[in-house]
Amino acid sequence: MGGARDVGWVAAGLVLGVGACYYIYRLTRGQRRGAPRGPRLRPSPSIEDLTDCSCDDVLNAEQLKKLLYLLESTEDPGILEGALVTLGNSAAFSTNQAIIRELGGIPIVGSMIASPNDSIKEKALNALNNLSVNVENQEIIKVYIDQVCEDVFSGPLNSAVQMAGLRLLTNMTVTNDHQHMFKSYITDIFHVLLAGNGITKVQVLKLLLNLSENPAMAEGLFGAQVDASFLSLCDSHVAKEVLLRVLTLFQNLNNCVKTDGSLVLRSTFMFHKGSLFFLLYGQECAQKMKALVNHPDADVKEKVLIIT
Ligand SMILES: *[C@@H]1O[C@H](CO)[C@@H](O)[C@H](O)[C@H]1NC(C)=O
Ligand SMILES: *[C@@H]1O[C@H](CO)[C@@H](O)[C@H](O)[C@H]1NC(C)=O
Ligand SMILES: *[C@@H]1O[C@H](CO)[C@@H](O)[C@H](O)[C@H]1NC(C)=O
Ligand SMILES: *[C@@H]1O[C@H](CO)[C@@H](O)[C@H](O)[C@H]1NC(C)=O
Repeated sequence: MGGARDVGWVAAGLVLGVGACYYIYRLTRGQRRGAPRGPRLRPSPSIEDLTDCSCDDVLNAEQLKKLLYLLESTEDPGILEGALVTLGNSAAFSTNQAIIRELGGIPIVGSMIASPNDSIKEKALNALNNLSVNVENQEIIKVYIDQVCEDVFSGPLNSAVQMAGLRLLTNMTVTNDHQHMFKSYITDIFHVLLAGNGITKVQVLKLLLNLSENPAMAEGLFGAQVDASFLSLCDSHVAKEVLLRVLTLFQNLNNCVKTDGSLVLRSTFMFHKGSLFFLLYGQECAQKMKALVNHPDADVKEKVLIIT
């Protein structure tokens, strides 16, 4: 990397809010200025070149490499944050997802989720989230699932870090491949569901819905100790985007019972009184479902009729 001077410019670009494209521009230009001038040197792209189009297209492997090098070599939180955002944006493109993996970028980004600085942690989680929309990348990212779970389930409620972590965990459960890693966190997941605000609830439900589609997770979900206040999520006044997802969760779990008849037989022995299984198949829940049949929303009504 160029001298402190170049890094200073990079930082200045960020502080001024000029954005990632300008930032990359400085990064590459700084490098070029330091290089001996020769005939093979192509003219630097103008700022317009980099900002006019979608800049993320412009980032080639060479620039991504520089960005990763910068991530490893600086401790300036402002620069780290900017570099993570740029990397996350470029990882919205599937070719870049592969390039970043091949450059060994995932462990570099992954190490930053341990940052004591919450803004850096959040941006690292966001970047990993975009990188995770790729099966091969998920194979590498899965080593961070435990750490992200710890952060999400014991960190501050409804925080930006918690949301970023939840989004990443949701993307990591899009297939069944890594869902078994969530088994020991199911009770925590329900805890955040009940304690979180509306936005948090919706994100947690997306995660739970993915888990509940997998019959291999049904036992863990049914056996989770869940506070009885869970059933208040089935009240008629609950926001539709929460209510419909709770009902879909119920529907998915019902389907698991249908495909695995012995689950019910085993349930009496396996599940404790305060478990999700007892909540869902108890009297109170049945009454709530009965009441929801008269819900004004057609989608809710339809779901309830499928379940009951
Ligand atoms: C954390 O990083 C942000 C964003 O770069 C920075 O503004 C802030 O000062 C850092 N906080 C600490 C405690 O270092
Ligand atoms: C991630 O990708 C989405 C598009 O899929 C994009 O909108 C977002 O800005 C990207 N960046 C980060 C840091 O999440
Ligand atoms: C992954 O997460 C992002 C951001 O939350 C989201 O936009 C995207 O749809 C997710 N991908 C999949 C396959 O679920
Ligand atoms: C997980 O949820 C996403 C949308 O949030 C969906 O696209 C995906 O198919 C789900 N995967 C599973 C295994 O349920």
